[in-house]
Amino acid sequence: MSEIRTGLGWDSHRLAAGRPLILGGVTVPSEFGLEGHSDSDVLAHAITDAVLGAAALGDIGMHFPDSDPRWKGCDSLVFLRHAKDLAEALGYRIVNVDSTVILERPKLKDYRQAIREKVAETLGLEPDRVSVKFKTAEQVGPVGEGRSAESQAIVTMLKLGTGPWHEATGWTS
Ligand code: C5P
Ligand code: MG
Repeated sequence: MSEIRTGLGWDSHRLAAGRPLILGGVTVPSEFGLEGHSDSDVLAHAITDAVLGAAALGDIGMHFPDSDPRWKGCDSLVFLRHAKDLAEALGYRIVNVDSTVILERPKLKDYRQAIREKVAETLGLEPDRVSVKFKTAEQVGPVGEGRSAESQAIVTMLKLGTGPWHEATGWTS
């Protein structure tokens, strides 16, 4: 019997001058970056919560408290990989990731492929299983006024088992 699970993730960070803008592990040239305890990768945090959510493993702050000095300035792909490892240990395999970054500027579309490849590599997936979309907030609210960035993610996972889908993909062990 196959078991399909989905997980939802969301995150928000303030924008600040002099901070790097790191999205899905990719540094995007920008006047403003994201404030926070780790490298503040708002996209990696949303995807991490989606992975944890699909496996009902709590949330990112439970596994990586921002009060812990070990995670200060940390590469958030470490969190993402750890969440994936925890889910895999329970027998889940990620099928696909869809995500949206909401940021007024800079334009991000030229970085889409690099971000997809980085997230896919971190999760051990082909890039065509990772979707990254970008939106402005139409100059409305904290994101639209350029004070913050948000990200949303949804992840689908399959628990290993037997069945036609498992045979087709080879995910049978
Ligand atoms: O928010 P809006 O619908 O105006 O965005 C239009 C398009 O601009 C998006 O579909 C996306 O491809 C691109 N975009 C971007 N970088 C952003 C926001 C939007 O590349 N920061
Ligand atoms: Mg965060």
